[in-house]
Amino acid sequence: MNEAPNRNRPAREVIAGDRRYVWHPFTQHGTEGEPTVIARAKAATLFDADGTEILDLVSSWWTCTHGHAHPKLNAALAKQAAEFEHVMFAGFTHAPAVDLAERLVRLLPGDLSRVFFSDDGSTSVEVALKIAYQYWINRGEPRRTLLLAFDGGYHGDTLGAMSVGRGSQMFKPFRDLMCQVLVLPYPATFEGDDAVEEREAGALSAFQALLAERGQSIAAMIIEPLLQGAGGMRVCRPSFLKRLVETAQAFGVIVIFDEVMTGFGRTGTLFALEQADVVPDLVCLSKGLTAGYMPMAVTVAREAIFEAFLGESFDRALPHGHSFTANPLACAVACASLDLFEEEKTLERIQAINLRHRELLAELQRRSDVTRPRVLGSIVAFDVKDIGAYQSDESRKLKAWYLAHGLNIRPLGSTLYLMPPYCITDEEMSRAYAGLIEGLDSLKR
Ligand SMILES: Cc1ncc(COP(=O)(O)O)c(C=O)c1O
Repeated sequence: MNEAPNRNRPAREVIAGDRRYVWHPFTQHGTEGEPTVIARAKAATLFDADGTEILDLVSSWWTCTHGHAHPKLNAALAKQAAEFEHVMFAGFTHAPAVDLAERLVRLLPGDLSRVFFSDDGSTSVEVALKIAYQYWINRGEPRRTLLLAFDGGYHGDTLGAMSVGRGSQMFKPFRDLMCQVLVLPYPATFEGDDAVEEREAGALSAFQALLAERGQSIAAMIIEPLLQGAGGMRVCRPSFLKRLVETAQAFGVIVIFDEVMTGFGRTGTLFALEQADVVPDLVCLSKGLTAGYMPMAVTVAREAIFEAFLGESFDRALPHGHSFTANPLACAVACASLDLFEEEKTLERIQAINLRHRELLAELQRRSDVTRPRVLGSIVAFDVKDIGAYQSDESRKLKAWYLAHGLNIRPLGSTLYLMPPYCITDEEMSRAYAGLIEGLDSLKR
């Protein structure tokens, strides 16, 4: 098979052009080495310009679900492109958007029944925060302005999303721009944790005390259900999440589930909320929504929230929208992705990945440098004693080692994790595990 670049431009030229003209995300250009030029991708594998294989073990920032360049997703995209690529979404609508909205509503529990489209995870969170804030104004309770979030949570990089993600400690330069957010303790747990109940009780009582003191001024609470992603793949138990949500809703606090990362199978169920058996008031979805093909997001609201925005005056309407709202190409791919979940029995595949992860865990637990192992759905994660904080020398070294050995594995601070696309084969998983461990050993040399 010809693994040559799919464009005529030689890789050297691409890199030179990149150096000269491009500003990359989350990148210190003063120290970062050369980027890898990707020429094509198939299933769980990326191919660089020389045809070298790289296993995409973080699903390209957690977006890719069924695998890269899936023929059915490609076909759905091409079919929609041949019909029309985009139309503004105020005063116009189209079948791909309505099909997708209807299907999402059927898959979500309770009366989560109104779908607001936006562009990416951050904007879906921004929309949720604005809906929650304006909801109380529309209801005649404008003193409900405070937002609650969790220590270690991450919700995106726009101003509102950064504010509720301040517990992740990522956004130091922007402190003064952020809106007021109260940060609650998050009872992260792991395999063999015997203090989890105590930690959960502490978190719940801190929450209850806050509600008793300031409940009437709290607009909304936001959480990544079951798993904080960027904060270091930190897991909490479904039973804790359930009690948290019930407590918040008893005080009328709007509960926002940020399922931008957890949605579409990552935690073993289509949505993480299923495991806690609760109905949040707003749900944010992106990343896996389009199987990683197109930037799109939705914020799904309960019907009662939508109704609070109805009236004769535009003042009650949500004054928010994006040029590419409900892009038909993205909607068509998202619908095709939902078909694949059924056709390819994707949730069963995820269960098989989970079982393999558990075997790996048994091996990891014998290592003295590994702590806090955890497995959830298609994700395995653990902390490594020898690695320092985010962007530490060791973590950069390790990332480079993995890449040089054909593995896209990126430490999150001292946390190592795998989150493969669901199409990963048994052989690829074995290769990933062997490389993961060899990389850890390389730190000691
Ligand atoms: C839970 C969560 N919310 C929101 C976001 C922001 O999404 P985006 O990067 O698409 O803006 C992310 C990104 O990683 C995320 O993990």
